Amino acid sequence: MTSEIACQRVAVEVIVPLRHRILRAELPLDAARFEGDDDAATRHYAACRGGVPLSCLSLVHSRWEGRPAWQLRGMATDTGEQGRGLGRMLLRRAVAEARRDEPDCVFWCNARTSAVGFYEKLGWRVVSEPFDIPTAGPHVKMQFEPTSDARPRAAAFMACEVAFLAAAHALGGPPWVALGVLACVAQIAADFRVRSLVGIVPALGWAVAHHVSSDRKLFFPFAMHLAAHVAGQFQARGRLLGAAAGGAIVAGFLAIRAMQRATPRVLAVEAAVAAAILAAVVAVRPVAARRPWVAAAVSVAAAVAAYLGLAL
Ligand SMILES: CC(C)(COP(=O)(O)OP(=O)(O)OC[C@H]1O[C@@H](n2cnc3c(N)ncnc32)[C@H](O)[C@@H]1OP(=O)(O)O)[C@@H](O)C(=O)NCCC(=O)NCCS
Repeated sequence: MTSEIACQRVAVEVIVPLRHRILRAELPLDAARFEGDDDAATRHYAACRGGVPLSCLSLVHSRWEGRPAWQLRGMATDTGEQGRGLGRMLLRRAVAEARRDEPDCVFWCNARTSAVGFYEKLGWRVVSEPFDIPTAGPHVKMQFEPTSDARPRAAAFMACEVAFLAAAHALGGPPWVALGVLACVAQIAADFRVRSLVGIVPALGWAVAHHVSSDRKLFFPFAMHLAAHVAGQFQARGRLLGAAAGGAIVAGFLAIRAMQRATPRVLAVEAAVAAAILAAVVAVRPVAARRPWVAAAVSVAAAVAAYLGLAL
């Protein structure tokens, strides 16, 4: 029931009690006052019924990856009003006004992991590993990019993926490009940024080596590089999801190997080595993934381990 609800800009004092009740109930009231609350540029919004704030949020001017940005803070809906569309209505309204006034700004927030689904429904993306905020529990960084900015970036991302697949096809052939397609689809589902493709490129080194040596076994390290990369891309949403995504690439690899008539014994060894490497990647990756070059190094290490595993 949202008909008699008014979404409006309000003074911070109007929303501090609601913030406190929903976000900082165990702490003193002052814990519900945030840095930047009193900055002239900061915008506070509330969805009110009869003047009573039921949902609130604040947008604080900030920077994000070197670009002008708004940080969303203090998103909260009163307990009895949650799930009725108030948060969505308020966030859409605040974002629309901020975009109208400053079209170049991106939006980001530190989101409670329990609220990620809410933001995702509104088009926000997880862009970090989980981390802990001592007063508020596990969080992830999330970003929302207005469509007009996102379109050229998406085009650049797709161009990079197509170039990767073309190289895999030219250097390796159909099995390599088939696995590449699987990894690219997973990448699209995980993260749509050119930056996130940095970690996938070194896999082409194995395709180059295969092209030069005609050694078909190099398909295994190529596959494990892709599996480790994809696992890392999904890991921000949970280790299990990371393992499942990497596992899907391994399953694709094994299916291709079966089509290539690999013997059951060879398949069993490759599956065992792949599972061990993937488990190790999932175990070490959360520490590494925030820096793309470290994440790439993890994938390279996984591929080298697979290459060494070929000796088994
Ligand atoms: C997260 C929160 C702000 C969402 O506000 P809300 O008013 O309940 O959200 P809405 O009713 O507008 O929900 C919009 C959609 O998101 C979904 N949704 C809401 N909260 C969700 C959650 N925590 N996880 C997954 N989905 C969620 C709703 O089911 C709804 O889905 P639908 O479009 O399929 O109907 C609110 O639940 C809340 O205050 N939670 C506790 C404090 C909190 O976690 N704040 C976020 C801090 S980062």
